[in-house]
This record gives sequence, C-alpha cells and structure tokens, in this order.
Amino acid sequence: MILEKVILEGSSILKKNGIKTSRLDSEILMSKAINKDRVFMILNSNQKLEKKSLNCFFDLIKKRSIGTPVSYLTGKKDFWNNEFQISKNVLIPRPDTELIIQEALKLTKNKNKLRVLDIGTGSGCLILTILKEKKNFSGIGIDISEKCLNLAKINRDDFALGNRVKFLKSDIDNFNYGKYDLIVSNPPYIKKIDLKYLERDVINFEPFIALNGGIDGLSEIRKVIYRSFKLLKSNGKLILEIGFNQKNDVKKLLKKKGFYINEVVKDLAKNNRCIISTKI
Ligand SMILES: C[S@@+](CC[C@H](N)C(=O)[O-])C[C@H]1O[C@@H](n2cnc3c(N)ncnc32)[C@H](O)[C@@H]1O
Repeated sequence: MILEKVILEGSSILKKNGIKTSRLDSEILMSKAINKDRVFMILNSNQKLEKKSLNCFFDLIKKRSIGTPVSYLTGKKDFWNNEFQISKNVLIPRPDTELIIQEALKLTKNKNKLRVLDIGTGSGCLILTILKEKKNFSGIGIDISEKCLNLAKINRDDFALGNRVKFLKSDIDNFNYGKYDLIVSNPPYIKKIDLKYLERDVINFEPFIALNGGIDGLSEIRKVIYRSFKLLKSNGKLILEIGFNQKNDVKKLLKKKGFYINEVVKDLAKNNRCIISTKI
C-alpha cells in the first residue's frame, strides 16, 4: 500500500472514532511507524510501505482510536523550544503551562545565579526549560512519583544540564531542603468530582495523581502555598498555575499566608491561568 493512501485510511478510522485532529494524528503516527520526518513523507508520498511498517501504523491507529494521547504513543512532546521524552506515568506538558516559563523569564531577566524549585515536576518540563534558558541558575525538582522523577532525569540528561539540577522524591508537605529565589508549580488542581467531565484522552490515560486536586480542587495548591512560604527567601517569587475558576480562592490563600499578589496572567483562551506573588 502507498504511504499517502495509508495516512488517509488512518485518518478516516480516527475520524470515525471521534478524533478531531484525525489527519494530523495519522501523519504523526505514520512518522513514528516508519521513523521518518514529515518532510520525508511529503517527498515520498507514493512510496510503498513494508508490511512491518503497516502493522506498526495500524496498531498505533487502534490505540489512538480508543483515546490514547498521541504523545504517549510517540513518547515525545514539544514544550517551549524543546522536545521532552514522555511516558504514561507523567502529565503531558500543556501549552498553557508555558505561561509559567514566559513569566519566570520576564521576572528574572537581569538576574544571576538564582535558586529555583519546581514543585510537582512531572517530566521536568518547567525546571529544565528555565535552567536551559538561564545558564547560571540551579535548582531542584520534586515529585511524589518515583516514575516521574526517573523520566525527569532522562530529560535532564538529554538537556545536558549536569549537576545544575537535582530531582528528589518528596511529598510537598515534607519538603524542607534549602531556600529559593523562585518557586514554580503546576500542581494538580481539578476538583475530584469534576474529574469525570475531563475528555476521555485525559481522564482515561493521564495519571490521576497529576490531576486530582481533592474535594475543593485546592488541596495541593494549599500545600504548595504553605510550603513555598517556608522555602522562599524574603522577596522570593512564587509562580503558580491555577484552574480557570480558582483566581479568587487562590488569591485569598496567598494573602492569608502573607504573599503580595503581583499579577494574574490569562492564557490564550483568556482564562486566568497563572498567579505571580512575592513573599514579603
Ligand atoms: C499537573 S502535574 C504537573 C507536571 C509538570 N510540572 C507539568 O507542568 O507538566 C502535577 C505533578 O505533581 C505531582 N504531585 C501530586 N501530588 C504531589 C504531592 N503531594 N507532592 C509532590 N508532588 C505531587 C504529580 O505526580 C505530578 O507529576
């Protein structure tokens, strides 16, 4: 069978199964199956496919049809300017979370040698991106999940960041090591009762522990705020990702703890997505 026709067939199967990005996903999965990039596929659209590649492609299409996210099938996800390795044990980095990077880089524009902490590091996308951009910063990423940390370490090695970043297994509540100029965190913040309304690609495949924010959605955010107050240096900054409807509750928590609110930043969909505050 011819490459372009197979991509079309894959796309049609995905469409029938309710996948909105069927053509794009089919192309990405073909690229994975034959281990070639998109340019190759455009230039060789009439190429005949081997049986092995066909089997591999339709196996991937079958998995995508039941909702498995593309990034779990390819093992990769782009975030900021970098490609991260991904496994089913970590949350897939989201474009909205790039706001944290944007704000961190703005805040630290002329700063040197800052210490950064990433709470709930997952794939390591936040701390690794910041440290790659800021050559003389160093820091720590913590997560409660050992499997996340193993992947974050693989990403660290790919980024060649050596000993500028450490990854440690710890619950937010118990972490008590060092003092930081900047803390970033994208904690789980979805109300337990609302988890069932998430798209099937998310709720059926992404780690529960990365999504579940407890009864009011704020259980982990609360912990991050309390712990950050202890771990930040005076005048240190906390950049926190929040759910679209959590602005007022989180502002209250921050103020109660003694933070000054610098700014609430909206995402591309104009939802409040990220709060910047200062320990005063
Ligand atoms: C929403 S994910 C964010 C992952 C990554 N930072 C990102 O932005 O893509 C939240 C992460 O927090 C971790 N986590 C959940 N509860 C935690 C806790 N009590 N202590 C430390 N990490 C926790 C999860 O394992 C998960 O990796």
